[in-house]
Amino acid sequence: WRLFSLLAVMTVFLSACGEDYISTLKPAGAVGKEQLNLLLFSITIMALVVIVVSFLYLYAFVKFRRSKQGENHMPKQVEGSHTLEVIWTVIPIILLLILAVPTLISTYKLADVKAMDEVDEEGNKSALTVNVTAKLYWWEFEYPEQGIVTAQELVVPTGEKVYFNLKAADVKHSFWIPSIGGKMDTNVENVNKFYLQFDEESKDLEEGVFFGKCAELCGPSHALMDFKVKTLAPEEFENWVASMQATEGQTASADSADLGEATFANSCLACHAVSGVGASGAMGPNLTTFGDRNRVAGVLEHNKESLEKWITDPESVKPGNLMTGKYGELSEEEISAVADYIMSLSVEE
Ligand code: CUA
Repeated sequence: WRLFSLLAVMTVFLSACGEDYISTLKPAGAVGKEQLNLLLFSITIMALVVIVVSFLYLYAFVKFRRSKQGENHMPKQVEGSHTLEVIWTVIPIILLLILAVPTLISTYKLADVKAMDEVDEEGNKSALTVNVTAKLYWWEFEYPEQGIVTAQELVVPTGEKVYFNLKAADVKHSFWIPSIGGKMDTNVENVNKFYLQFDEESKDLEEGVFFGKCAELCGPSHALMDFKVKTLAPEEFENWVASMQATEGQTASADSADLGEATFANSCLACHAVSGVGASGAMGPNLTTFGDRNRVAGVLEHNKESLEKWITDPESVKPGNLMTGKYGELSEEEISAVADYIMSLSVEE
């Protein structure tokens, strides 16, 4: 009973911390719904088994307790019962089959990524594919067909399957968007593939954005390795693609009259790109959409003070990150200017 009440208390606490945008119990996509249904179905069967077994146990406990005839009475000895043995062998087999068949069907269905390679008459890929690279402690999203690269923000259209190639740049991570579905490991040595479907639109950056997590212990800042998922109606997604592609060739110039841009070009550009178009694999996150984000470094409030704190002392924000010690010697004035410049990077109207 102690264990039971502990579990009950834990359940209350855990259910209280489940927010809408990050709850597996409130799926916002076809994959998450299917996984939840399978979970509820299995739990129902397992609960029925627990109830029946507990009942039989209590029944035997009461019915065969010490009788009034005294301790020396020898009860009837039963050597075995073929009927009972057949019953308690066959029932579990049936239950396991009932659990196994829908589980296998779902597993194969959700692992089916054949559509990833399908092309239409013009030779264009018919399904949207995103290459995900997990890094200590941030996420890079590359849209190979569109030539776009983003960091920390996955932008996807609603109502269609989105296919993912998942890999890691350094150590093993795991890609998980709890309310959409998943999760899947990201490994260094191979590419894992799967798909998700996003069925609800994000309302704006603060509300209705879905949260993604790293689900594999990867280092001191594992718990801070979040990303955001913005889901757009298909035509809005097309607009977003166009505005990202319009940043082609955009870069910071060291000769700029703007102190922030010049400082960025001298001190940050070696690791951070400011155009959303181009190859992935830069050392640091692409900052093209930085001004449109709603967090600094994924965890701080989205304002200039947070950004200055992150630039000057990243270790206190995300222990073990690769930004630590990289910014060199910047004056207060330069830090303030470069923070202004980075906050001004935006593709949204
Ligand atoms: Cu990456 Cu945990």
